[in-house]
Amino acid sequence: MYKQELTFIVKSIIASNTVDEHIRCAGELSGFYKKVTKIFISESNETFVKGGIALSSSEAADCVDDSLRTVFFIKGIYKALTKLSIDFPERSINVLYAGCGPYATLILPLLPLFNKEKINALLLDINIESIASVQQLVSVIGLEEYNIHLVETNAITYTKPVDFTIDLAISETMHYALTREPQVAIMRNITRQLASDAILIPEEISIDLAYTFFDYEPYLKYTTDGIKGYKEMQPYPDNVFVDRLFTINKEHCGRENHNSKLESSFYDLPENFSNHPDIAIFTELKIFEDITLRTAESFITNPYCLVSMYNLRDYSKIQLVYDFSEIPQWSYSLKK
Ligand SMILES: C[S@@+](CC[C@H](N)C(=O)[O-])C[C@H]1O[C@@H](n2cnc3c(N)ncnc32)[C@H](O)[C@@H]1O
Repeated sequence: MYKQELTFIVKSIIASNTVDEHIRCAGELSGFYKKVTKIFISESNETFVKGGIALSSSEAADCVDDSLRTVFFIKGIYKALTKLSIDFPERSINVLYAGCGPYATLILPLLPLFNKEKINALLLDINIESIASVQQLVSVIGLEEYNIHLVETNAITYTKPVDFTIDLAISETMHYALTREPQVAIMRNITRQLASDAILIPEEISIDLAYTFFDYEPYLKYTTDGIKGYKEMQPYPDNVFVDRLFTINKEHCGRENHNSKLESSFYDLPENFSNHPDIAIFTELKIFEDITLRTAESFITNPYCLVSMYNLRDYSKIQLVYDFSEIPQWSYSLKK
């Protein structure tokens, strides 16, 4: 019964076309998970590792309510699985999902759309409670016949089994501007274990620097009346794009580089900045092919304000530094 209900919801997610439809379908998926999850989801198992913080199981569960994120990832992963099924009609597809959380939101709903022999799924999470929750969901939804293997591990250091060639790797372990959570460290470890033709989701994370008026930029936020921001997507008109700081993708992560610090060039600070006083970082995702997640469409693509130029009056140039050796964060250096 639950499998049928989940199939109905995921089909409506794939067919959804408007923001209102996306939000409604994500709400149905969230309600479904709340209804069928029977084990306790811990709020206190947030875990610190070198590379970032793994959310508690409860916070990870709440990610399903980041509606456009959930819908666009599911659409992108469906598209990638469909492509792989066409490319390899004669064999099964190996999926590695790093950071599955207690709901395995980005893969479980899609399984009923494929034959049980078609997909081998390897699901990782650092929190044992999340792994236990997925195990319970697999049985209560009726997905035991699928080849799903659950592993409690740190995805930053994990090594895949030798006989498991990854066709599709998925990880959504990110916070806006790639701060706090370990997306980059996980992508780096997983990418090194991918064949050249494997698909990585998200395909690309772009990080841009702009000078702007931060309070006037679109921003998704929780308010007492629910989530606000989806309908206020106009960028601030006097936003000055400065540069693309970097793009995280298979090529970038696959490079042999043990450095966990990325340093930008030095950029000129404008003398007159009254229309755009804030130094801000913008995140956009190419999830797969034409499926994207733009600024403020989700909590993970909200803009991030690094510093106001009113605090830097004595300087003429700024360099941005991203460091993910411990908890990922941004800092800056200044020149006179
Ligand atoms: C942002 S939540 C996303 C949950 C779910 N994948 C989704 O998309 O709704 C990230 C998940 O990744 C897990 N995670 C974070 N860092 C991890 C690590 N180093 N190793 C394994 N799992 C990790 C967290 O425990 C959490 O369950």
